[in-house]
Amino acid sequence: MKSLVSADIEAYAQAHSMPESDLCRALREETQRRMESPQMIVGSLEGAFLKMMAQLVGAKRVLEIGMFTGYSALCFAEALPADGTVVTCEVDEEPAALARQYFARSPIGKKIEVRMGPALDTMRQLAGPFDLIFIDADKINYVNYYRRALDLLSPTGVILIDNVLWDGDVLKQPPPDEKTAAIQELNRAVAADPRVSAVLVTIRDGVLVVRLKGGGG
Ligand SMILES: C[S@@+](CC[C@H](N)C(=O)[O-])C[C@H]1O[C@@H](n2cnc3c(N)ncnc32)[C@H](O)[C@@H]1O
Repeated sequence: MKSLVSADIEAYAQAHSMPESDLCRALREETQRRMESPQMIVGSLEGAFLKMMAQLVGAKRVLEIGMFTGYSALCFAEALPADGTVVTCEVDEEPAALARQYFARSPIGKKIEVRMGPALDTMRQLAGPFDLIFIDADKINYVNYYRRALDLLSPTGVILIDNVLWDGDVLKQPPPDEKTAAIQELNRAVAADPRVSAVLVTIRDGVLVVRLKGGGG
C-alpha cells in the first residue's frame, strides 16, 4: 500500500499519539515476519485512532469484520472496560491461529470472541446492539456489510470502514477493477444515506466514520 502522507508526517503523528501496547507491538512484528501480506493490519497510528473511537463512544460491545492476525481486535479489547467484548469475524485459519496465540497471552484476550466463517453469515446470526462496528474485510461486500451493520448498530454507536481511499484509486473513473468499484459504491451509498452522518478521515488508507443522525444529539 502506498502511503497517502509522507513517511515523516506519519512518524510525527505516531510519535504524538498514544503508543501501542507491548503485546500489540509484538503481534505487529510477528505478523510482519510471518505473514505474506502484513500490510493488512491497521498499524499503530490507526490502531490508536480505533482505540480512541471506542473510548469516545464508551463502547462495551464491538463487532469487527476481518480479524487477520488480531491486531485491531486487540486494540479494541484494550480500549474496552473489563466486561466489554469484541466479536471478530475471519475466514482464514492461518492468521486466526496466530491471533489466538496472542489473545491467550493476556487476560485482555478473554474479551475477544473469534467467529470463523463468512462475515455476512455471522452478521446475520448476531443480535445487536453493538457500540462500534469496524469493517475491514473483503471489499466486494462492503455495501452489504454496511447495510447489515446499520441493523446491528446502537443508536449512539459508530461504524468505522477501512481502506475507503484504496490507495487513491477511488479517484479513478472508470474504476480499474471490481474492488475499487465496490469501494466507490460504498462511499456514494453512505454519502447519500439520509439516516447517517459521515466523515471520511484521511488517516492511513482512509477511514469512513459513520453515525446515525439523532444518535445522542
Ligand atoms: C485487512 S485484513 C484485517 C486486518 C485486521 N482488521 C487488522 O487490522 O489487524 C482482512 C481480513 O478479512 C478476512 N476476510 C476476507 N473475506 C472475509 C469474509 N468473507 N468473512 C470474514 N473475513 C474475511 C481475510 O482473511 C483477512 O484476514
